[in-house]
Amino acid sequence: MTTVGFIGSGHIGSTIARLAIEAGHQVVLSNSRGPGTLAGTLAELGPRASAATSAEAAAAGDIVVVSVPVNAFPDLPAAPLAGKTVIDTCNYGPERDGHIPELDSGSLTSSELLLRYIPDASVVKAFNNIFYKHLLSLARPAKAADRSSLPIAGDSVPAKAAVTEFIASIGYGVVDAGPLADGWRQATGTPVWGTPYGPFSNEEGEPVDEHAIRAALADATR
Ligand SMILES: NC(=O)c1ccc[n+]([C@@H]2O[C@H](COP(=O)([O-])OP(=O)(O)OC[C@H]3O[C@@H](n4cnc5c(N)ncnc54)[C@H](OP(=O)(O)O)[C@@H]3O)[C@@H](O)[C@H]2O)c1
Repeated sequence: MTTVGFIGSGHIGSTIARLAIEAGHQVVLSNSRGPGTLAGTLAELGPRASAATSAEAAAAGDIVVVSVPVNAFPDLPAAPLAGKTVIDTCNYGPERDGHIPELDSGSLTSSELLLRYIPDASVVKAFNNIFYKHLLSLARPAKAADRSSLPIAGDSVPAKAAVTEFIASIGYGVVDAGPLADGWRQATGTPVWGTPYGPFSNEEGEPVDEHAIRAALADATR
């Protein structure tokens, strides 16, 4: 059993939290408005969920999921994230985040930008390429023939191992997509982003095995 901290508990954060609880983990949620605003989510998730400030959620997590708009990166609590395995679900969208020159030019991936704000964390990019409704509906037990896979990118071997174990526990296989600098291969608009799991209009989604994920990653261009 792992305690998973969440900074950002919206569509994708709360979906990962729900799957984590179903797998027997504890979750500590946070958002920008404060723990009191998460009462409804806690009621849905049950007794293994609690709410806290972002710094407290960061401190509590064995793994911490950062699931916020990219323009919120400067607000993240760097000190309690030092030494932690951090899952970065975030996608850059200038229409929401404003223009960030290094991301527009491709000289930096959004996960490398995140690392600038939390330099002592071990960041692993994951979950950014799947629609939150598909993430919920496509989770399957370990031996299921139609279990889907997710790409992960990161620089720390132990952090990737911890994230792989966590993702396996909540219903997915993992494909290693390389270091954080290769995170662009799974960024918004790439072949592995969204499309393989089916259209957003089909909430059930379509299972995607590891071979299809590898092929989609290999097809990415920039
Ligand atoms: N939606 C998807 O299917 C999906 C899939 C993959 C990846 N993503 C990416 O994952 C990230 C989250 O997406 P989402 O759809 O879950 O967004 P969302 O539903 O809008 O939720 C965003 C969460 O971030 C919190 N937040 C915002 N600023 C914060 C700050 N300064 N400190 C702490 N928490 C803060 C929000 O809290 P408040 O509500 O209190 O402001 C909210 O809980 C985005 O980067 C998105 O591009 C989304």
